[in-house]
Amino acid sequence: MKIRSVNELSEYRERIVKSHNPKKTTISICNGAGCLALGAKTLSELFENDVKKRNLDIEILKTGCPGFCEKGPLVTIFPQGIFYSKVTSDDVSLIIDETIIKGKIIDRLLYEDPNTKEKIKKVSDVPFYKKQTRRLLSLNDKIDPTNISHYIQYNGYSALSLALFIPQDEIIKEVKKSGLRGRGGGGFPTGMKWEFLKKENASVKYIICNADEGDPGAFMDRALMEGNPHLILEGMIIGGYATGSTEGFVYVRTEYPLALKHITIAIQDAEKLGFLGENILGSGFSFKIKVREGAGAFVCGEETALIASIEGKRGMPRPRPPYPIKSGLFGKPTLINNVETFVNIPYIIQNGGDDYAKIGTKTSKGTKIFALAGKVKNTGLVEVAMGTTLKEIIFEIGGGILGEREFKAVQLGGPSGGCLSSKDLDIGVDYESLILKGAMMGSGGMIVMDETNCMVELARFFMEFVQNESCGKCVPCRIGTRKMLDILTRLTKGKGKQEDILELKRLAKLIKESSLCGLGQTAPNPVLSTINNFPEDYRVHIEEKFCPLCKSKGVFPVRHFKPEEPKKE
Ligand SMILES: Cc1cc2nc3c(=O)[nH]c(=O)nc-3n(C[C@H](O)[C@H](O)[C@H](O)COP(=O)(O)O)c2cc1C
Ligand code: SF4
Ligand code: FES
Repeated sequence: MKIRSVNELSEYRERIVKSHNPKKTTISICNGAGCLALGAKTLSELFENDVKKRNLDIEILKTGCPGFCEKGPLVTIFPQGIFYSKVTSDDVSLIIDETIIKGKIIDRLLYEDPNTKEKIKKVSDVPFYKKQTRRLLSLNDKIDPTNISHYIQYNGYSALSLALFIPQDEIIKEVKKSGLRGRGGGGFPTGMKWEFLKKENASVKYIICNADEGDPGAFMDRALMEGNPHLILEGMIIGGYATGSTEGFVYVRTEYPLALKHITIAIQDAEKLGFLGENILGSGFSFKIKVREGAGAFVCGEETALIASIEGKRGMPRPRPPYPIKSGLFGKPTLINNVETFVNIPYIIQNGGDDYAKIGTKTSKGTKIFALAGKVKNTGLVEVAMGTTLKEIIFEIGGGILGEREFKAVQLGGPSGGCLSSKDLDIGVDYESLILKGAMMGSGGMIVMDETNCMVELARFFMEFVQNESCGKCVPCRIGTRKMLDILTRLTKGKGKQEDILELKRLAKLIKESSLCGLGQTAPNPVLSTINNFPEDYRVHIEEKFCPLCKSKGVFPVRHFKPEEPKKE
């Protein structure tokens, strides 16, 4: 069945809404990659079988990831919103007997606030969720991502039905007004990029959704693809219409099998209902989207390497200009946006750019999803308004430092980013503020470290990562990162020299200034920021030839070194 007009879409939605009883008991089980790894598949089957066996009128909903993976598998019972964490197969019958049939809460399965020790019943009261501004992730625990009707029920594709009947320039105007900036790391104004593509006079133009997500620890884009893939497609189709594009591609790393599966199902279902294909909703606009798998090289997230990879070539960056907007995929004008950038679009179209811009800071608008990890009590995906301070994220949403240790550092922006210390905790997260302090937003990785973490070891870890991921095309990155890694490795083995710091800084400058792509240009950042913000850690390695911290278990692979035996006279 195809939906051929805006009216038909409204009628279709009305039928879904009418057939859905909001008071019906629904057991929502997270089936995101994290919870699946913890047994959510078996758990869901047991719930389904038990409900069937007892002939209960209950809906079992298998959702995507709502972000609190550390506490998984998660089970939320609606409409009450009762939140159970770390649920096992043994708990299934008990939940049905006690909570579903008798209406009793099982204390043991409730989330316990690590600070107050209070047991929290409702998902909306869990501090981890309560203090977030969930705009992009809001449907992740409410819909089955493989069921397009669920998305439509929550107003899905209504932004598209508005957009297709508005002049293209008006859409671009709203996106510009919203102040949305690219979430892939660079923060380039999205509306401006769209305008550039719209102005390109070409019969074939492409749109690419960058879902490569190579930063270690980052999984925002994966959660969006697994949990709400139609939101991405809707943003892309609107982008396709506004810029006059003919075809779209979603470039997903092959290590994301569930995300790949869900986005593929979503495309097929959107085609079946007519949101993709010819004459979408009777607007005269035609658009298709294809999925391309990447083999998981970090550098393939860089836009020109990504294009080469889709073209079937080796994924290596090329010099810019020409920028992809002028000459991109197969030499045609091409727009590349990140997954999280696209998912902001439906909100902007439905509510207007001014409304979108109401939250955020002067230069960074809307919300941002961070992957909060490391030594905090609550880890997971955190969506906050731009401008929320690091302190709020780490100590309120994250619940503070594990084991009552002292906060030492927060690493932002992955391998391109930097480490900030306690003096920077009052910074509100936005593009400029973080760069000013030597870190960056990046794609949203946020790793918290405590007093037992060694910053030299951290710098070495990231340098090893970029060294491995360097494509080798240009000398400063290929050889320079190797040299920096050698020095850092020597330092962590207690064999550092005073001159090493100067040499690291010299190499960093050289690599930043002369590398071809962003990988090399930003590779020295974690080293420079740790040298600047944590000079004591370097001093200890160099002068005392021994760091007690490298020996302690950290968030990264631990490397031990022994001080050299004093030479016998
Ligand atoms: C080494 C490297 C890796 C990158 N990886 C990603 C990535 O995984 N996802 C992403 O969206 N952008 C990534 N980028 C940025 C892209 O080149 C591009 O700027 C971005 O996809 C544009 O989308 P946006 O304007 O929505 O941010 C990477 C850049 C570099 C230099
Ligand atoms: S900077 Fe590094 S990753 Fe980028 S092109 Fe040069 S060698 Fe390749
Ligand atoms: S995968 Fe279940 S909460 Fe993230």
